[in-house]
Amino acid sequence: MTKLGVLASGRGSNFQSIIDAIGSGGLDAEIACLITDNDEAYAIERAKQHGIPHVYINPSGFETKDVFYRSIADELKFCDVELVVLAGFMRVVKKPLIDAFPMRIMNIHPALLPSFKGLHAQRQALEYGVKIAGCTVHFVDEGVDTGPIILQEAVPVFSDDTEESLSERILEYEHQIYPRAIKLYTEGRLMVTGNRVIVAD
Ligand code: GRF
Repeated sequence: MTKLGVLASGRGSNFQSIIDAIGSGGLDAEIACLITDNDEAYAIERAKQHGIPHVYINPSGFETKDVFYRSIADELKFCDVELVVLAGFMRVVKKPLIDAFPMRIMNIHPALLPSFKGLHAQRQALEYGVKIAGCTVHFVDEGVDTGPIILQEAVPVFSDDTEESLSERILEYEHQIYPRAIKLYTEGRLMVTGNRVIVAD
């Protein structure tokens, strides 16, 4: 069974969607640990409710970002994690963690990459005036929201949308494609060649 390590900073609704997919038997995986960089993250409550080990790692307790990420990597290795899942982890992951889990870190982004990278992606999409928005699950490399794309889902943008209404519509699909992407990984069906991810039948 694939052991997952989840990193989250806040609400953790994507974390919950993974918990639920496992609970319903739709995803053959185990969440070995939740790591947060915020001791008030609601994700911690979700971990407690489901008996998932959780660790808060205080980013200000480290001399450099590299040492912080080294310590996260050490914790994940200690928990015997195979796949790292970023679920609303509000930081740019650095080399020590990426090198420890090459093409074994996934992220979800609330936009159709490569459009609208970085923060406030839904707001960026509205301000740009696109008619189609969406979400993307991708492997993490050293760039910001640049790694190989695994799955995407599109949603319409309506003329009366606010940042909140669009975010909510996108989130519904995030909760579907994240567990699906993780499932593809656990089934050994994701092959990365260059910047492309080939999904085996
Ligand atoms: C989601 O919109 C996700 O795409 C982005 O951060 C948000 C996290 O939400 N990376 P949650 O904490 O999973 O509810």
